[in-house]
Amino acid sequence: MSSNVYKLIRNEYDRRRANALSDFEERKQSLYYHIPRLEEIEEEISQAGLKYNKAILMEQLSSDSAIGELSDTIERLNAERTSLLEKNGYSAQYLTPSFQCKRCSDTGVIKSETGGADTLCICYRQQLIDMLYDQSNLSTVNTKGFESFVIDYYPDVVNEKRYSIKSSPRRQILGILDNCRSFVDNFSNTETNNLLFSGPTGVGKTFLAGCISMELMKRGHTVLYQTAPALFNTIYEYRYNSANNDDWESAVYSNILQSDLLIIDDLGTESPTGMRYSELLNIINTRLANDTRKPCKIIISTNLSLRELFEYYDERIVSRLTGGFDIFRFAGDDIRRLKKD
Ligand SMILES: Nc1ncnc2c1ncn2[C@@H]1O[C@H](COP(=O)(O)OP(=O)(O)OP(=O)(O)O)[C@@H](O)[C@H]1O
Ligand SMILES: [Mg+2]
Ligand SMILES: [Zn+2]
Repeated sequence: MSSNVYKLIRNEYDRRRANALSDFEERKQSLYYHIPRLEEIEEEISQAGLKYNKAILMEQLSSDSAIGELSDTIERLNAERTSLLEKNGYSAQYLTPSFQCKRCSDTGVIKSETGGADTLCICYRQQLIDMLYDQSNLSTVNTKGFESFVIDYYPDVVNEKRYSIKSSPRRQILGILDNCRSFVDNFSNTETNNLLFSGPTGVGKTFLAGCISMELMKRGHTVLYQTAPALFNTIYEYRYNSANNDDWESAVYSNILQSDLLIIDDLGTESPTGMRYSELLNIINTRLANDTRKPCKIIISTNLSLRELFEYYDERIVSRLTGGFDIFRFAGDDIRRLKKD
């Protein structure tokens, strides 16, 4: 998926630049038609420019005064052009291409002036995040990243009967947050485990997965968010269509296996067909194998307790989950209800 996103952005920049240049050409031609002297000026400037460059190249042969004279000519022509434009009610910029980004002229790249490496323009970085976000399917989770995560919702009281944990939900979530930060910091490390969030409804499992995703997209990683029912539907659809049509390709299906991060939300709410075991196992195994080449991590969120998960899924899946995943138990009150009050 990464290369796909980069290709899309490249196309978008090529399109922007071509548009700006063709608008400019159109404007120029119509202006030259109405004010022919402007076209002559362009021609004279380009002639003088050629001579000027030649004079610079053959420095020894040419006197300094000749070079000075040429640059005076160019300056004079430029001034004449500006005043002609202004006299006719145009700004001087009217005869330059209007790029969306002035910094990079819609190339996405800032050329180094010292001969060092070129750098990506800020507009490119923003575009990248926007595209990663569009592809991630995360629009239902409204977060900017860890900065949006409020810990005040988690009560700082110990109540084992109510929250089913020995410490307070506040302490618990602080520990989870620490782990999620290091998950992000060490995302590209093969040693980094996947994450499994378990807990009752409304305690921020989906929200925290969204925060992690935003942090990763800011770093240029691809993310795909799918609820378990949607995920299995995509897979069934892919299996069905690819069995009937050799050329069938599914972008979403390949992203399920290849995006840098896959979020499987609400595991256990999909319809309990036999096929989902082998499909889930296939996803986990394929991604674990891919992770050795490039980051290919998984976050699973579920309402099921670990015990229920063991009852609900095949033993091979459970051993995968307990092996390759760090498991976190979320606790607290339903934040959906807290927010309403
Ligand atoms: N730490 C938080 N800071 C701010 N808002 C939060 C936080 N946690 C959750 N929320 C908000 O509370 C609501 C419920 O959270 P979320 O959807 O993450 O719960 P969940 O654990 O995934 O529940 P479910 O098991 O029902 O899917 C969401 O609207 C979310 O925006
Ligand atoms: Mg959720
Ligand atoms: Zn730019």
